[in-house]
Parts: sequence; structure tokens; C-alpha cells
Amino acid sequence: MVQSVPQAASLRGTVALPADKSISHRSAILSALGDGRSHVYNFPDSADPRSTLDCVRGLGVHAERDDGGVLTVRGRGLGGLQPPSEPLDCGNSGTTMRLLSGVMAGQKFGSVLTGDESLRQRPMERIADPLQAMGARIDLREGHAPIRIRGTQSGLTPIEYRLPVASAQVKSCVLLAGLYANGRTVVIESTPSRDHTERMLGLEVQEVGGERHIIVGEDHTIPAANWSVPGDFSGAAFFLVAGSLVPDSELHLDDVGLNPSRTALLDVLDGMGADITIENERVQGSEPVGDIMVRSAELSGIDVGGRLIPNLIDEIPIIAVAAACATGRTEIRDAEELRVKETDRLHAMAQNLTALGAEVQEREDGLIIDGNGPNLLGASVESYDDHRIAMAMGVAGLVAHGTTTIAEAECARVSFPDFWSELDRVASF
Ligand code: S3P
Repeated sequence: MVQSVPQAASLRGTVALPADKSISHRSAILSALGDGRSHVYNFPDSADPRSTLDCVRGLGVHAERDDGGVLTVRGRGLGGLQPPSEPLDCGNSGTTMRLLSGVMAGQKFGSVLTGDESLRQRPMERIADPLQAMGARIDLREGHAPIRIRGTQSGLTPIEYRLPVASAQVKSCVLLAGLYANGRTVVIESTPSRDHTERMLGLEVQEVGGERHIIVGEDHTIPAANWSVPGDFSGAAFFLVAGSLVPDSELHLDDVGLNPSRTALLDVLDGMGADITIENERVQGSEPVGDIMVRSAELSGIDVGGRLIPNLIDEIPIIAVAAACATGRTEIRDAEELRVKETDRLHAMAQNLTALGAEVQEREDGLIIDGNGPNLLGASVESYDDHRIAMAMGVAGLVAHGTTTIAEAECARVSFPDFWSELDRVASF
């Protein structure tokens, strides 16, 4: 599908956000491993969480989502999963593959995890290494999926693992494998990444010498639970930037997840001069949530790098759009992880923003963008079959003169199935 986005005169209204993708994956996996019937409220109908559901069903777990978004899962307990009759297809979802690999490593039976073409090109040694250190038997194909895991009869060996890369997926993989270890597993992270797994499992976290030690004790069990998934901050991000850039705008985003390990974009936009207010802050289950309002503002360039990066890792494509429309230079550093996401996001954004007339230099670990305010010109761009690239370019299209067309724009369904209709609904052209 080619999506056309004309320049918008204003954006107004309340945006209906999808439920948080990261929390959805985890709620489905933890419910499947739980003892008894769990419910997940506001479980999304996006492609990635659906991949996780398909996989847990392939492991013998009954999981049904009704039209109101309530997912009911009959958990089989840590030891109750059934051998899958075919490879577990994780689709486009790195989180599904990496988290489930941790679970599969601890099973008595073998399994194969595979995914679409993009996922089969993403690095998997980062999970195979720690899992092998725990005694798991794992084969990759030249560092990639399909991942073949052979069963273990004696459980896994507990390890103390210092993450070599700031990745919540790797951290979560090792923590989930730790549930199957004969002893105490400790994951050490020097740069904090999103902490949903440790929150949802209720794990002990110690601060030691500026690092976080996350501990899975022996004999950890997962009780059945009622989870409630907040709105996806990473989906809200597109509208926070769109509402800032398009003149005469006021957008409301309600019930948004505001976990501080996810919201560094708010600090960046604040530093750029955005007009954003948060109200009604509260705690829902193990996660902070709130309502956000954004109004148009003049943005200026900013430097983004260092420890902030993992806390806005998925927001860098949309930060690049904000930067291209801001006044002055923005430098994004330490973001080399973007090269191994659903596509090489640094390259994709450099190409696409250049096509719209922005001044962008691509660096190995980031981008340098010289903002030229309201001077972008509509053009034809590619989504690279990456949901966040497609949506970021949709926002750029709202600002650029004329019309922007985005090829393969349907990939937004991976995390935000209603993105294009929501954009259209709140926009006046
Ligand atoms: C995620 C972690 C991040 C993020 C991804 C979701 C998660 O990946 O980019 O969209 O839910 O754990 P990495 O851990 O690979 O940085």
C-alpha cells in the first residue's frame, strides 16, 4: 500500500493509541508460564503481539482475545509447555524471538524459532552466547535465525551475566532462562534499558556501583494474574512530534505508559522547546501511566547520546524528523544499535529525509541533521518495510510542502494498526 500524506494545516483531537507492544509481549509470555488462568486487558491487535500469541499457542497454551481486547490465557506453569509440532514463527518481532528463546532454552523438548526475512537478518549471537553459558544447546545459522534449541533434561546453570550491549531483549531473555536455572541468576546492566520484565516478574534489583543487578532467585514461580496494558508511549511519540511541528495543533493522548525507562523522548522534546503537559499521573499494575497533551511549538536542535539512547531507542526515527524541522543542528550519537533493528534505521532516515530536502549526514553511530524549519518538500519515500520508518515519514509528510508518498506503508500494523486512520482523523488539510 502506498500512503499519501498531504501537508496539514492543524492537528486536533484525542488520538486512540494501541496498547504497549513491549508490555503486551511480556504479559502474554508470563501468562502462558503462569499457574492458572490470567487475563490481559487492552491486549492489542497489532502484528507483533499476535506473533507472540501464535507462538505460545504453538506451545500448547490456550490464549483467546475477545473483540474488547481482553486476552484470556490458560497458563501451564513453568514446566507445562508442550513440544511445538512446527517451528515457532515470530514474524517480524525481535522481542518475541529473543524472549521466547530464553524460555525455550529451559525446556525438556527441542524447538526451532524463525521469522520473516527482516528478523532472519538480525543478530542472535547476543542471546545465544549467554544461553550457551547457561548450558543451553543452541544452533544459529551464521549468527541468525532460524534458532535451533535442543532440550535440556537437567535444567540450566545459573550465571552472572554483564550485558555487553544495552538491550532489554537480551536482558529479558537471560532473566526468563533464569527461571529454569538451578540457582540464582544475575543480570548486570551498566546502562539501564526498559525494565518491564523485572517489574512484571517482581524481581529483586540492586544498585551496585552505578550498575543494576537484576536477580532471579531459584524456584521462582509465576502466579496467574490480571494485567492491564497501557497505551504505547512509542506510538504516542509520533503524535508528540506531529503535534509539536504542525501549526495550530493540540493533541491529547490518554492512558499512556510513562515508565521512565521509555520516556527519554519527553526530555529531548522539552530540551528542543516543545509544549507538552502531563496530567493525571498514576500507577496501573506495575507501570506508571498518565495523560499527555501536546501543542505546537518552535523547536530547536539538540544533542542526543550516551545513557539516554536505550530509553529512546525506538524514538530516534521520529526525533530525526523533529530535528529536520527544527532550527539549528541536532547530533544523534551512540545509536549504532539502530543499524540492527527491523531495518538499518540510521540509513533509512538519512535517505528519506534527504529525499524531502533535509540536510542529513549519516555517521556510523548516528546522524547530524541541520534543521531547515518549514522547508521540507513532499517526495516519494520508502518504508523499508519498517513500521517506525513508515510512521516517522508519515509525520514528516504532514509538515512537508505538497504531498509525501510512503511505499509499503501497511507495515505500520506491526505496532500501530490504526496509525494512518488516526493521522487522517486528527488532521485538517
Ligand atoms: C524491546 C527492546 C528494544 C526495542 C524493541 C522492544 C523490548 O530492543 O527496540 O522495540 O520490548 O524489550 P533492544 O533490546 O534490542 O534494544
